Amino acid sequence: MRHLLDMDDLTSQELATVLDLAEHREVPALLAGQGVGLLFEKPSARTRNSMEIAVVQLGGHPVSIRGEEVGLGVRESVDDLTRTLAAYHRVLGARVFDHATVEAMAAVDAVPVINLLSDRAHPLQTLADLLTMRQRFKQLAGLTVAWVGDGNNVCNSLIIGAAMSRMHVRVATPPGFEPSSLAIEKARDAGGRVFLTNDPAEATGVADAVCTDVWSSMGQESEAEARRSAFDGYTVDETLMDKANPGAIFLHCLPAHRGEEVAAEVIDGPSSLVWQQAANRLHAARGLLLFLLGAHS
Ligand code: CP
Ligand code: NVA
Repeated sequence: MRHLLDMDDLTSQELATVLDLAEHREVPALLAGQGVGLLFEKPSARTRNSMEIAVVQLGGHPVSIRGEEVGLGVRESVDDLTRTLAAYHRVLGARVFDHATVEAMAAVDAVPVINLLSDRAHPLQTLADLLTMRQRFKQLAGLTVAWVGDGNNVCNSLIIGAAMSRMHVRVATPPGFEPSSLAIEKARDAGGRVFLTNDPAEATGVADAVCTDVWSSMGQESEAEARRSAFDGYTVDETLMDKANPGAIFLHCLPAHRGEEVAAEVIDGPSSLVWQQAANRLHAARGLLLFLLGAHS
C-alpha cells in the first residue's frame, strides 16, 4: 500500500516517474466505477478542483467531504472514519490542520492516502511546481530554486522534492520562520544542498526559479498583523527578481496577496508562470493517481 503524505514517500526515481505520468495524455480508465474520497478541514480551490477532475479523467467518481460534515475526530475517530470511507473509495485524500491526522489515516492502510495539505507538507503542490520547472528548463538536476518568505508547509515539501531532483535550494526567511528542521534533514538526506539565509537577495541571486507563498497560512489568521511586520522586506518584487539568473521564473502556489509576499508587477509580469503552475495541479494529481494505482509497473 503506497501513500503520499510528503515527498519522501517517493524515491527520487518514483518522483521522476510521477512527473512523466503527469504528462501522459493517454489516460486509462483505472478508476472506472470507483470512488475517490476527498476530505477538507480547510478551504481549497485548486486542490479540490484539480483532484476531482483528475479522478473524472481516470473514469472515477470524486466525493468531496467537508470536515465539519463528518466531524473528523469528533463525531467519530479518524480510524473509524477512514475504515468506513475505504469501504467505498479506491483512494482517499485529506486536507487537515494536523499532519498527524493524515498519518493516522495512512496507518489504517486500507487504501492509498494522499495528503492534500497539512500544517507540515503540501506534496501535491510540489509535484506541480517541479513539473512547471521541468517544462520550462527541460530538466531539473542542476537548477537552483529560491524560496523567499515563510518557511511553511509548501516550502517544506518543495525543498525535499527539489533536493530529491538534484536541484540546489536557497531559502530566505526572517529569523524564526525557517522551514522545519525535519524538512531540512530530509532534503539533506536526499543529497541536496539547502542554503538558509535571512537575506532575500542572497537567496534569489543565481536562482532559476523564485518561489513564495502567503505570509499567514490557513489557521494562522490571528497572527496576520504580527506576521506582516515580521515579513517586511520579504516581498518578491522586480528588484529581487532582477538579481536572479536571466530567464528566471516566478512561482506561487496561490492564493496570492499582491503587495504582501509578491508585487503585482512580478506575479502579473513576464517571468510569472503561476497560471501554468495552477494548470499543472491537474496533471500532477492525475500523474500521482496513476502512480498509486500502479500504472507505472
Ligand atoms: N495551491 C493550493 O493548494 O490551492 P488551494 O488551497 O486553493 O487548494
Ligand atoms: N501555506 C498555505 C498554502 C495554501 C495553498 C496554507 O497552508 O494556507
